[in-house]
Amino acid sequence: MRYWLVMPAAGVGTRFGGRIPKQYAALRGRTVIEWALAPFLADGRCAGAAVALASGDTWWAKVAERIPAVTVCQGGSDRSESVRNALLALNRRAAKDDWVLVHDAARPCLPAADLDRLIAQLETHPVGGILALPVADTLKRALRADGVPNAAASASALPATAAPAITTRAAPVGAPKGAAASKSASEASAPAIEVTVERVGLWRAVTPQMFRFGLLLTALETTLAGKRFPTDESQALEWQGHQPLLVEGSAANIKVTTVADLALAESVLAAREAK
Ligand code: CTP
Ligand code: MG
Repeated sequence: MRYWLVMPAAGVGTRFGGRIPKQYAALRGRTVIEWALAPFLADGRCAGAAVALASGDTWWAKVAERIPAVTVCQGGSDRSESVRNALLALNRRAAKDDWVLVHDAARPCLPAADLDRLIAQLETHPVGGILALPVADTLKRALRADGVPNAAASASALPATAAPAITTRAAPVGAPKGAAASKSASEASAPAIEVTVERVGLWRAVTPQMFRFGLLLTALETTLAGKRFPTDESQALEWQGHQPLLVEGSAANIKVTTVADLALAESVLAAREAK
């Protein structure tokens, strides 16, 4: 079995903040993206890799000096466009039925065992699947600040005739009158609960996600042509009517989203090294 690696690394890290994009933040003597690439570059099954970079990226060149050669391409303004561009960069070398693994540049702690399990479970599947974790906590949907139920708010994105009337909705039971006006700053940051979401059957999607090369490229090109932007690769295939598999991954495979996550990644890697 062989596979190609696609790594979207064209994000700016808005939630992380800081002077440099999070994928280039220092982490135990390397950068985050080097840790993210490492399990694949060390894997004999990986036939080649493409990394999508933001235009004007001035940090990649330094990383490239320290790792084996990989293909680079221009990222897009949405993650799905970055992935599509990286697939196109490999398209000449990859066969339709080859596997491609897509992994976030911001996930530096992928355990080798997770990678092996993903491949072992999917190797003979016609479509592919993703690493994911069953949701363990009780889930709450927060009430919007304007009091409009989330379901009604997303429905109002539909044509006007299909949108339900929402302006006459009563305040939720227990909501203080004139709450918005009298709230202190600290109270204002804590939203109220709209509803408890049924947890049954819910999983958190992570990466890598593994698909047949031709199917993923077609799915992304189709959805992007229609100006629909999937949140992950799997969603693009789901929109095409496919049912990718959920392969259970480990909680150690965190994504660096905030500065606090970088400290967490540091301890995950330190604990692994100490073993
Ligand atoms: N990504 C990308 N192209 C984009 C947006 C994101 O290649 N237009 C990549 C990021 O570099 C990251 C991965 O997709 O490796 C996951 O995205 P996320 O964690 O959201 O990273 P950012 O978009 O950089 O962060 P933020 O959303 O906080 O701005
Ligand atoms: Mg983002």
